[in-house]
Amino acid sequence: MKFLKSALLLPICILSTSVYAAPDAQRGKVLHDQSCAGCHDTKVYSRPQKRMQSLAALQGQVKRCTQPAGAEWDQQDLADVVEYLNSSFYQFK
Ligand code: HEC
Repeated sequence: MKFLKSALLLPICILSTSVYAAPDAQRGKVLHDQSCAGCHDTKVYSRPQKRMQSLAALQGQVKRCTQPAGAEWDQQDLADVVEYLNSSFYQFK
C-alpha cells in the first residue's frame, strides 16, 4: 500500500516541478538590470559588509526588493534573478 501511494504521488511531483524551467542567470541579469538599478548598483552584493549570509536570505531579499522596484515577478523570474545574483556575486552553495 505504501508503495502504491508513492507510485501515485511521484508523477504529480514531477509534473509540478516541471512547470518552471531551471533558473537562468542570463535572463535574471536582464530582469535585474531592468528593475533593480534604481536604488543601489551591484556593489551592494559584493561589499565587505554585505547583509546576505545565506541563499534563503537572498531569496527573501530579492522578493522584498521587488515591491519598491515595482517589478511584478513570478516564481520563475525570482528564481532567475536569485540565480544571477548568486552565481555572479554571492556564491552560496
Ligand atoms: C526602492 C529602492 C530599492 C530598489 C528599487 C531595489 N532595492 Fe535592493 N535594497 C534596497 C536597500 C535600501 C537595501 C539595503 C541596503 C543596505 O543595507 O545598505 C537593499 C539591499 C538589497 C540586497 C542585499 C544586499 C546585501 O547587503 O547583501 C539585495 C540582494 C537586493 N537589494 C536586491 C534587489 C533586487 C533584486 C532589486 C530589484 C527587484 C532591488 N534590490 C531593488 C533598496 C532597493
